[in-house]
Amino acid sequence: MIPRELKQMHFGKDLLGIKQLDAEQIQYILEIASGMKVLVQAPNKKSPHLQGKSIITLFYENSTRTRMSFELAAKYMGGTAANISVSTSSVAKGETLIDTGRTLDMMGTDIIIIRHSCSGAPKLLADNVKAAVINAGDGMNEHPTQALLDAYTIYEKKGGFEGLKVAIAGDIRHSRVARSNIYALTKLGAKVYLAAPPTLMPPGIERTGAIVARGVDEAVEGADVVMGLRIQSERQQGAMIPGIREYARFHGIGEERLALAKKDVLLMHPGPVNRGTELTSAIVDGDRSVINEQVMNGVAVRMALLYVFTRGGRYGNVD
Ligand code: CP
Repeated sequence: MIPRELKQMHFGKDLLGIKQLDAEQIQYILEIASGMKVLVQAPNKKSPHLQGKSIITLFYENSTRTRMSFELAAKYMGGTAANISVSTSSVAKGETLIDTGRTLDMMGTDIIIIRHSCSGAPKLLADNVKAAVINAGDGMNEHPTQALLDAYTIYEKKGGFEGLKVAIAGDIRHSRVARSNIYALTKLGAKVYLAAPPTLMPPGIERTGAIVARGVDEAVEGADVVMGLRIQSERQQGAMIPGIREYARFHGIGEERLALAKKDVLLMHPGPVNRGTELTSAIVDGDRSVINEQVMNGVAVRMALLYVFTRGGRYGNVD
């Protein structure tokens, strides 16, 4: 299941962002994930790769996909997975992030998966615990595991990245998914076009290598991949768009706009989707949508990451 011919590669103790990875490391994780996907689709989802390892999900923000896929990934590989519900833990009594992390260390935790509203929280935790830390989304900074599963989905369908046009449309300003995807896809050789209302486009984003389109039509035209993003109202301060109906009309994507893309375009979205706002229901459920496959691939990619980061961030020549 795990490709044995892959050479040794060192990732470090923690996965804090795509920024820390190079193209070869990203490809490497995608290779391991393709082996793991066989297990996700098998009738008997059991392997011994994480036997004796303990994984804790520490989520200070809501999640369905990321948290569950990490927990299932750990269980499919024979590991122990537990979740801390922040609202019923000692965090609610004022315990600091570092104290919570050190408490988990003392319980023998091998990996802490953290989601936090504050950019940089995973790094703070990683610097203060022995356990490996994986960033499951920090504020407006990064969501590296989402970008890796997105890259895996594109790789599986398109066979590579070089020269692909990828349009990312929506609330770029508040989106950690957009940032991690820009880093990943530009490193892998794709051209990333961004579209958002001016209030939701962060100034200077071109410095990442992404191209700011004049509008959603320009971004989508001729695209191989179109990725919609949710309006992150939980991170917005004050009104940034005049209204949802205007947003859907001028910046949302439906059949008509999607027809500007290539015929074999992949329609993606990290979820959760606000149907009728960023994407119409018809295209979410249409034949170009790979949104459900992204969810399945999320388990495979997180299995690959748990495998690598329970081995001290090293992979290769395994027994
Ligand atoms: N895409 C994503 O992060 O989804 P969840 O918020 O459900 O984890």
